[in-house]
Amino acid sequence: MTADGEAFENRLRKRARHLDAWARREGVTAYRLFDRDIPGWHFAIDRYADWLVVHEYPWKPGDALHGARRDELLAALPALLDVPASRTVVKVHARHRWGESQYGRAGGSRKLVVAEGRLRFEVDLGPRLDTGLFLDHRRTRALVGKLAAGRRVLNLFSYTGAFSVYAGAGGAREVTSVDLSRTYLDWLGRNLALNGLGGPPQRQVAADARTFLREAGRGRYDLVVLDPPSHSASRRAGSDFEVQRDHRALVEAALGCLAPGGVLIFSCNLRDFTLDPALAPSRPVELTPGSLPEDFRGQRPHRAWRFDTRAGGVHGIAGSR
Ligand SMILES: C[S@@+](CC[C@H](N)C(=O)[O-])C[C@H]1O[C@@H](n2cnc3c(N)ncnc32)[C@H](O)[C@@H]1O
Repeated sequence: MTADGEAFENRLRKRARHLDAWARREGVTAYRLFDRDIPGWHFAIDRYADWLVVHEYPWKPGDALHGARRDELLAALPALLDVPASRTVVKVHARHRWGESQYGRAGGSRKLVVAEGRLRFEVDLGPRLDTGLFLDHRRTRALVGKLAAGRRVLNLFSYTGAFSVYAGAGGAREVTSVDLSRTYLDWLGRNLALNGLGGPPQRQVAADARTFLREAGRGRYDLVVLDPPSHSASRRAGSDFEVQRDHRALVEAALGCLAPGGVLIFSCNLRDFTLDPALAPSRPVELTPGSLPEDFRGQRPHRAWRFDTRAGGVHGIAGSR
């Protein structure tokens, strides 16, 4: 065993004891158990129902201990978490841009359904890095569900539609989901169907989010969810997208299509992201760390802001309407 192997096992055992009980209470079956909590352990471990996903993050070339730690971790998991090695998948992360490696990894799917309370989501533990559900946004999704009642909702960069499912289940008047990828829009359709939400008032649009916003009418929506990738490169979009460079224009365009009393939720998972100070007059209220669910406390997987067009209507995630 490596010198810190015991520290790893103790840490994981303690977190699993706490989080398994928490998840049972919440009805959550996909959640994070470990995220680089011990220096030198470049791994995250997620439970997806009765499967485990181990994320192996980039490590320093020449880190002689990394391979030994990986072997130790994989050997210890079945007993520690009661999941056999045959139901454990390892995803090796390298820097990538949406539209490059993500799509290239398609094929050989391993689908299952996970729960967040009464809602259900199809995930795929196949070779893609992404599973179809970003676990750190569970509370942001719940906020969107709460805000959606009676509202016209626009979900940009909708991916597999988790926000659209919450909005629909929360009683949205209509939900428009926009994504460049038909593969993900089809997946979104399956997630809606899993929750009995197919058909109107749900609408899916295969388009570049920036082009869509340019053509959306002013005041057309009451709630916009804007959760773009950090970078994306796609021939269909016509140009690259870099969230740090491009978010100001995107946020301003999204605010432009909000009706009075409307709300924009903007989120970003770029490490070291800073919100453009030029957006200050629109009174952004940062939702993080309140937006982080129990299994991501103390981490910084995303930063999220709420923009409220109602004068004086400023709410954090805990005190949301
Ligand atoms: C990181 S995900 C977004 C996360 C998502 N909002 C969620 O609920 O988990 C990236 C998604 O953005 C989409 N995408 C990338 N560039 C786009 C663009 N220019 N316009 C619309 N969708 C885009 C991809 O197809 C993918 O589904």
